[in-house]
Amino acid sequence: MSTAAKTRPGADEATAASNNGKIVLQVFRGDPSGGGEERFEVPAVEGMVVLDAIHYIQANFANDLACRWNCKAAKCGSCSAEINGRPRLMCKTRVDEFVNQEIHVAPMRTFPLIKDLVTDVSWNYEVNKQIPGFTPAANESVPYRMRQEDVDRLYEYRKCIECFLCQDVCHVLRNHDDKSVYYGPRYMVRIAALEMHPLDTKRRSGLLHGAAGVGMCNITKCCQEVCPEHIKITDNAIIPLKERTATDMYDPIARVARKLRPRHEPAGTDGSPDGLAGTRLPQRFAVKDVVRLKSGGRPFARVGAVRQDGKLEVWVLKMRGTQQHWKGPKVINTSDVTNNYGPLDDVGIGSKLFEQQLMQHSEHGE
Ligand code: SF4
Ligand code: SF4
Ligand code: FES
Repeated sequence: MSTAAKTRPGADEATAASNNGKIVLQVFRGDPSGGGEERFEVPAVEGMVVLDAIHYIQANFANDLACRWNCKAAKCGSCSAEINGRPRLMCKTRVDEFVNQEIHVAPMRTFPLIKDLVTDVSWNYEVNKQIPGFTPAANESVPYRMRQEDVDRLYEYRKCIECFLCQDVCHVLRNHDDKSVYYGPRYMVRIAALEMHPLDTKRRSGLLHGAAGVGMCNITKCCQEVCPEHIKITDNAIIPLKERTATDMYDPIARVARKLRPRHEPAGTDGSPDGLAGTRLPQRFAVKDVVRLKSGGRPFARVGAVRQDGKLEVWVLKMRGTQQHWKGPKVINTSDVTNNYGPLDDVGIGSKLFEQQLMQHSEHGE
């Protein structure tokens, strides 16, 4: 269909970045039985976004053009579409980005089409239901208290507006069309928000390793590039979850440590004024903590001293057959450490318990 639109009264043709004050849109029209692009010409107005143009088309040429929107402020996540092949919010995409170009508007390809620009995204909500929610300890005091740095870290994940643009672009969901193997980047963000909450007691590593399929992500970062909230999905959610899952599933020391101590001590139970001294953040270290180093085969080490300059003096665990000894001291940066398992006495390196665990693992061929 070719439609010549009249210029809307008051439209500022001089400022429109378009051909003769008009913008040309090729909008997908159709349903599951088939469809194709239809051409529309819309008068350009300064500051116009693609959603404005779609509304103009609805009002003037195609009353039955289906599109989903709500806030027109990039906050509800409803108006997701593919604009010139890139997943974007229609309400956040200005038409003057496309100087002398036609603007192609299509529905998200990863989800089943309902009509025109509207897709069925209900699969996402079914996935969401499978993720165990926030689970504080039963005796956690209310109101909850958290360190500001934890609040700041979680804030990034909580910015998600559920636009599903990241789900749309993820090749695992899009190209392989197999949604049974991976929950997708949006839900890695949600799981990260829960897993990194200092007061949450639930472990989701089994879910991540199994149904959620974190291993399916090959860190292409396409999801991160399209996120309108600029959430560093791959860097700050998926990669830490991959590391956590690998540690929880395959690291025998972590298994022992998990059995020996709870994930956190509830606020107010450790005698500190703010009740927060008992929490063990990954980058906080104390004498006798057992850590894992990044370099040289990722050996275990114990912290001998935390220096004034913030560096650590560590003693590295060396194994010779069944004999073990600590070699050191060696000075390292805290950034050279991948894990902090907590106090030596808890973890039990060198203890009968630790040796027993190693033997059990070697017996089972792990
Ligand atoms: S980084 Fe992972 S989740 Fe993101 S698009 Fe690539 S495969 Fe999908
Ligand atoms: S993570 Fe970003 S791209 Fe993905 S649903 Fe949330 S806001 Fe949208
Ligand atoms: S209409 Fe709400 S995000 Fe676009």
